[in-house]
Amino acid sequence: MILITGATGTVGRPLVAELAATGHPVRALTRASRTARFPAGVESCDSANPDLDGVTAVFVNPAALWRSEQTLFDAAKAAGVTRVVTLSSSSVLSGDSHHAVANRHRELEAAAESVAPEFVHLRPDAFAANARQWIGQVKSGDTVVGPYAQAVTAPVHEDDIAAVAARALTGGILSGEAPMLTGPQALSFTEQVRILGAALGRPLCYEEISHPAARDAMLSSPWMTEEIADSLLRYFASCVETPTPVSPDLERILGRRGRTFEDWAADRIAEFR
Ligand SMILES: NC(=O)c1ccc[n+]([C@@H]2O[C@H](COP(=O)([O-])OP(=O)(O)OC[C@H]3O[C@@H](n4cnc5c(N)ncnc54)[C@H](OP(=O)(O)O)[C@@H]3O)[C@@H](O)[C@H]2O)c1
Repeated sequence: MILITGATGTVGRPLVAELAATGHPVRALTRASRTARFPAGVESCDSANPDLDGVTAVFVNPAALWRSEQTLFDAAKAAGVTRVVTLSSSSVLSGDSHHAVANRHRELEAAAESVAPEFVHLRPDAFAANARQWIGQVKSGDTVVGPYAQAVTAPVHEDDIAAVAARALTGGILSGEAPMLTGPQALSFTEQVRILGAALGRPLCYEEISHPAARDAMLSSPWMTEEIADSLLRYFASCVETPTPVSPDLERILGRRGRTFEDWAADRIAEFR
């Protein structure tokens, strides 16, 4: 049995679907275990009370654990889980020791390593799905405003992260590894918005706003903290100076090129209309 935390999340959904489609027994954790819909055969389980009975491998999404991972890890250890796969972040590779997101994932990785004899840390770069933050602006106009227009990341499609996670959970591969998962292209925010416009069939442009204006805008979101906003803005600034490199890891593991940002836009463009 494979236990998936964050089963309704960006990576969790396609991961549960892929595992179910390939015949693996899956227990999907969610706060909405009574109402959440999963593919046939998938067990739904309340994330506040995870059932580890019969579980051999666990996918750990820290966004779904909110610092409660130690409870899950203790239960996993007691249940004799043999493999843990974490959804970490490429931010752990940054030299920024004050990076709140990086430090959260560094702690998670370290804690996960004592849970099971085998562990894999997936370190994605920016999710292509982060473009969803622009849906409101795209629906109401042709300009997306945001910080650091020339910040270059290598956005990765969530279905590709899920495909790597499925292999790590079931294939007995990658033990002790921490692959950096990027898409196949390094793209600035300006280029990403232009690609979305091409998928929509109308030109879109990215208008850069100042660091303080972007910080204020980020802090208007109820879940954003000053620590995270400052870390992310420092990260975007660093991506102007040093563009994120495209990593070979995803292609090596999947044996095919990763999906492009154009692919992501084609898959999700209905959400922007
Ligand atoms: N976005 C990026 O560019 C990026 C890049 C690298 C790494 N990451 C990392 O990837 C992870 C996934 O992040 P995400 O933002 O995409 O999240 P997500 O996987 O879409 O969401 C996680 C799930 O957690 C559950 N959840 C949300 N709030 C919760 C709470 N307070 N208590 C318990 N469960 C809660 C929700 O499921 P239910 O409602 O079903 O319970 C949600 O579906 C994070 O650790 C993030 O740092 C993200």
